[in-house]
Amino acid sequence: MKRELKNKLSRRELIGAASAATVGAAMMPASVLAAQEERQSYQVGKDPGKHEPIPNFKFDIEATTGWVGEAGSAKEATIAEFPASQNIAGVSMRLKPGGIRELHWHAIAAEWALVLKGTVRTTVISPNSQAATDVFEPGDIWYFPKGHGHALQNISNEEAHFVLGFDDGHFSEFGTFSITDWMARTPAHLVARNLNLEPATVSNLPKKELYIMPGKIPANALEANLADDLETSQSPHKFRLYKMPAVTFPGGWQRIVTAKEFPINNTLTSVMQYLEPGALRELHWHPNSDEWQYYIGGKARVTVFGAHGRAKTEEFGPGQIGFIQQGFGHYVEQVGSEPTQFFALFNSPVFEEISISKWLAGNPASLIADNFLITKDEVARLPRKTLGIIK
Ligand SMILES: [Fe+2]
Ligand SMILES: [Fe+2]
Repeated sequence: MKRELKNKLSRRELIGAASAATVGAAMMPASVLAAQEERQSYQVGKDPGKHEPIPNFKFDIEATTGWVGEAGSAKEATIAEFPASQNIAGVSMRLKPGGIRELHWHAIAAEWALVLKGTVRTTVISPNSQAATDVFEPGDIWYFPKGHGHALQNISNEEAHFVLGFDDGHFSEFGTFSITDWMARTPAHLVARNLNLEPATVSNLPKKELYIMPGKIPANALEANLADDLETSQSPHKFRLYKMPAVTFPGGWQRIVTAKEFPINNTLTSVMQYLEPGALRELHWHPNSDEWQYYIGGKARVTVFGAHGRAKTEEFGPGQIGFIQQGFGHYVEQVGSEPTQFFALFNSPVFEEISISKWLAGNPASLIADNFLITKDEVARLPRKTLGIIK
């Protein structure tokens, strides 16, 4: 098949295609042109339809309506809304003052969140019966391992806004278990027996899942649990992302939280990134994970390189999410006069990145000179270390 296709193209067509793909091809040595011709004919020989275009990697989550109730709202980006992101899903949730995201668990995913506005109180129970109640302010992140029962409440006087991340793109439709849903689907006499309630009380319980409901702002954020003798969780669920030291570069900074800094967070890494106007987050890739981005402020242009001659660029602004598949090359250009801030979730507890600057620096000059067709003087100009965020 490969040979047949190759034979259908004349030598002139092949050289023409190779030349058109290279500016200044006429200046190229014959050996380079031959190498290009070889590569071109090989790629043509392979079924060109084999490589689908790079999938859409942008989703305007805040432009969707999502679920809206009296006490809050939730906009989802699961594989149903954003098919590119199979391994990470997100929800942008808002709770009115006092609003409660009811007691629930996720059967197939751990839950991560970054608070952007308001004050959120969480409760969580572990299989070892340790319980935790914590209060989160803007810049704080939480992590609840897969299956651990939890609840959220906005205990501030303003609307709370937080972005949730899940380490499975299917988390919602196949795996959110709410307490009201369960009780409504359990025979009343069994609920009465298990919860030691009068039948009349049980008959007044919600008849279906409430999801988010109004509540009162508690007088004491850390009020006692029903059982006052529970052991306190030995694995803190809270990490103050905005308070940790940043890794700074000439064009901005990053704050990176892996399982090393936040041990319970053992399936995800979070990175907050800040780009000064004009900055460039240099060409790089992540060998071990996908990258799921949420833009908080400012604008950026992201280009993804997907091999086989494929690259795709999208522009992002506040409230939009982006997704970069594991191993795909990419870079971020800051756009506009306002600094750009976004966070990224990676579906690995270990952060791995290879930057083009460091990669090239780890090669002999002669190899780079031949690979790029440049002189050794030109090679000498190349950076020697990771540039990160270029000014
Ligand atoms: Fe949850
Ligand atoms: Fe990246």
